[in-house]
Amino acid sequence: MNDKKAWWKEAVVYQIYPRSFADSNGDGIGDLNGITQHLPYLADLGIDVIWLSPVYMSPNDDNGYDVSDYRDIMPEFGTMKDFDNMLATAHELGIKIVMDLVVNHTSDEHEWFLRSRSSKDDPYRDYYIWKDGKGSYPPTNWQSVFSGSAWEYDDLTGQYYLHCFTKKQPDLNWANKKVRESVYEMMTWWCEKGIDGFRLDAINMISKDPSFPEGPVTDGLYGELMPYVAQGPHVHEYLREMNRKVLSKYDIMTVGEADGLSIEEAVKYAGNDGSELGMMFHFEHVSKGATTTPVFGKWDHDHPDLTKLRNILNKWQTGLEGRAWGSLYWDNHDQPRAVSRFGNDSRQYRVLSAKMLATLLHMMKGTPYIYQGEELGMTNMTFSSISDCRDVEQINAYRQYVTKHGMISSEELLKCFSAMGRDNARTPMQWDNSMNGGFSTAAPWIGVNPNYTEINAASQINDPDSVYSYYKKLIRLRHENEIIVYGKFRPLLEDSDCIYAYERILDDDVLTVACNWTENNVKCSLFDCTSGRELISNYDDHTPGILKPYEARVYLTRLATTTNRSASFS
Ligand code: GLC
Ligand code: CA
Repeated sequence: MNDKKAWWKEAVVYQIYPRSFADSNGDGIGDLNGITQHLPYLADLGIDVIWLSPVYMSPNDDNGYDVSDYRDIMPEFGTMKDFDNMLATAHELGIKIVMDLVVNHTSDEHEWFLRSRSSKDDPYRDYYIWKDGKGSYPPTNWQSVFSGSAWEYDDLTGQYYLHCFTKKQPDLNWANKKVRESVYEMMTWWCEKGIDGFRLDAINMISKDPSFPEGPVTDGLYGELMPYVAQGPHVHEYLREMNRKVLSKYDIMTVGEADGLSIEEAVKYAGNDGSELGMMFHFEHVSKGATTTPVFGKWDHDHPDLTKLRNILNKWQTGLEGRAWGSLYWDNHDQPRAVSRFGNDSRQYRVLSAKMLATLLHMMKGTPYIYQGEELGMTNMTFSSISDCRDVEQINAYRQYVTKHGMISSEELLKCFSAMGRDNARTPMQWDNSMNGGFSTAAPWIGVNPNYTEINAASQINDPDSVYSYYKKLIRLRHENEIIVYGKFRPLLEDSDCIYAYERILDDDVLTVACNWTENNVKCSLFDCTSGRELISNYDDHTPGILKPYEARVYLTRLATTTNRSASFS
């Protein structure tokens, strides 16, 4: 085995989006005490780590991804005392907590920005990226990730500031050493508090192309922002510095978020030498494929093609092998629900396909992430009016493409949102079949998916055939079988249109995984002469030579008994 062992490589992470998890005080908004109350649920599920989406002080333009004070808790979520209590309770239950670190930008209400904007001579001016316009135009034609120009003109000093996301999320200037020192100090403060790591938001964007070039215009409105604001010349230098000054001093887990990441870049960020981060989130398998409507490419929602998806995931599995650690996810707070997007959320196949997807992901190499509700097979929502949407990304896109430029009909864009919008992931957690799914006694800040009467935690916890129980078993298997953590990945059946199969190899053991990606019976001879032991499957009995609709099977075999194949192992 050429992987150095680490607790975070052996862990299963569960992501909590606090606003939508559990409301303890009946104001319709999830909060820290709500999380604390449900920690026993997570302990029962068996997860090791919680990744907590931001809970810092924030005006909530982007639900906490716009931080106005990194050392305080947003009042809607509770107090620092509530946080400490949550952390202590989690630790008692053996659960670690990883904070979301949003430091590519702050809120425009952060004290640093208030100072920065106040005058060109203020010592904080250079904490952000200010530039003169070109005549009456912004410094570049870049479109922000959330629609509209990436530059905002500020009357007071007659300059523009850069915001890659909303105009309430000004980008910090990482070229300024004082910015970096301030961030490291804040990180140290949290580490000293006893938190267990960081998920680093948009971390590949902290160094910008110093030439600030114009981007190609693809939607007839603005120029593209990428790649000029990502993978800049100093990003690795800054992260190595962060590692030296903060990360290396604690036994913590780190995972960096990086849209547009390549394998070679991932190896730099999360290489085995440990000089930067522990692992990275790449976006390749959740990004649009070859899009038919380039203007609205982001919202393109063809059902993913197995061959394309498998090529991407296998490429990452083999590309990182022995070089860097990877992370595994189907969904998160920025993505639609896994079972709706990659599986089949019809009444007939929801449970089967949710389990199939879980098997496929959890048997791969890397640290798996479960997004709240995924373990119940929660589904996408139908958004039939823009007034049902809460996400600033959706609202801004609607304003730009429907209201302002009439480039797409309201109906069509809402269909896109129902398939791809971030709000799908943000509907309240479905705890039971009582009012509001047991999330809150008050009207929730965003509508509950009406299918909560059928899909909810209470009905699944004690049902051995539920999606919940299946996830619980997958997590337990990972904890019990080193091969699932450290085994080498090898693709199988790469020509199949219907089956995703692979094996994992560790010492004398082979783990064979096969998943039927379709709703048909499919021929599969992989298990015909196996002498292995079945570790898990979403069917109780099997038909020889066949994988049933969405069937997933995992076998563990001793290599000595599969001599005919051993010759090809390297
Ligand atoms: C990341 C977050 C996303 C947020 C954005 C800006 O992509 O995951 O939710 O909107 O960064 O902070
Ligand atoms: Ca609340």
